[in-house]
Amino acid sequence: EKGTYPHYMLKEIDEQPAVIRKIIQTYRNEQGELTIDREIIDAVNEADRIYIIAAGTSYHAGLVGKQFMEKMAKIPVEVHISSEFGYNLPLLSKKPLFIFISQSGETADSRSVLVKVKELGYPALTITNVPGSTLSREADFTLLLHAGPEIAVASTKAYTAQIAVLAVLAEVTAKSNGIDIGFDLSHELGLVANAMDVLCDSKELIEIISREFLSTTRNCFFIGRGLDYYVCLEGALKLKEISYIQAEGFAGGELKHGTIALIEDGTPVVALATQEKVNLSIRGNVKEVVARGANPCIISMQGLNMDEDSFVLPEVHELLTPLISVVPLQLLAYYASLHRGCDVDKPRNLAKSVTVE
Ligand code: F6R
Repeated sequence: EKGTYPHYMLKEIDEQPAVIRKIIQTYRNEQGELTIDREIIDAVNEADRIYIIAAGTSYHAGLVGKQFMEKMAKIPVEVHISSEFGYNLPLLSKKPLFIFISQSGETADSRSVLVKVKELGYPALTITNVPGSTLSREADFTLLLHAGPEIAVASTKAYTAQIAVLAVLAEVTAKSNGIDIGFDLSHELGLVANAMDVLCDSKELIEIISREFLSTTRNCFFIGRGLDYYVCLEGALKLKEISYIQAEGFAGGELKHGTIALIEDGTPVVALATQEKVNLSIRGNVKEVVARGANPCIISMQGLNMDEDSFVLPEVHELLTPLISVVPLQLLAYYASLHRGCDVDKPRNLAKSVTVE
């Protein structure tokens, strides 16, 4: 039940720190180490390549998961949109493992890929919030998100839970191969949960920013590089689906290859700057759009922040920034929807689980 909250979405945004803590607790053994069933880790280690299959927000989590698996566990990963994969089958590696990411575990586009994968005889792991869901039952293995029921159509806590579970999977796989990832993931996830608490207490500022940038605009762009780019895709999807503002996420460097033509006087451009190695280049992209009249909103992280920034995130490990940079974007979308009089929890034309192809 949503209790004192006006909307499920706001409640579910606020539940994110508790969900991260629950994931740490659930995936940690008595010795305090993160652990996952041996048979799952064996399946990951037997694979020469992982194929992540998902739709919408879960696809966006998959893009972040690819970075974790490649950077921590050194296993190559491809990420595919379910509805494209079926008729656009890539040339598969010799020993693929398929990972299906699905909050509901019922998405028909993903299920049809799973059916095909099983026909071909390949192993499959489902990462889902719903035990006993179709994708969980039909795959060989399941990892649960432990996010609790997600009621709002716009996915929030499932996205951060998916990213956290993918991080755990990458860390445990790395450890099983004697790879030192160079940091203590459960400790860093604890810091992420604390940072999320701070963000959930900063709603007033985000509401003001949302009112200023989004209450009357027709469109909005999100730009970022590296992990920030993937979070921009998610931020844009959140905004589109609940506020009906045309929003797109772009890789900062791609702007000049076309999209910058869309920038007019006052066009809102949200820029994420949480990655040290691209901090200056993304700020260069902000200057390019400002020179064409854009209204910039820079969301940076402590340690990388500058005077021009609208919002500064608490510092977390550079690989884990998507878990916290998405929170202000979820809140921006929430308040935009609210200020524009839209139905926050049940946006038009959308269903919580998409059970048709
Ligand atoms: C966006 C959203 C959708 C779902 C997508 C996949 O907020 O909720 O994009 O992420 O329909 O759903 P699941 O994860 O249930 O397979």
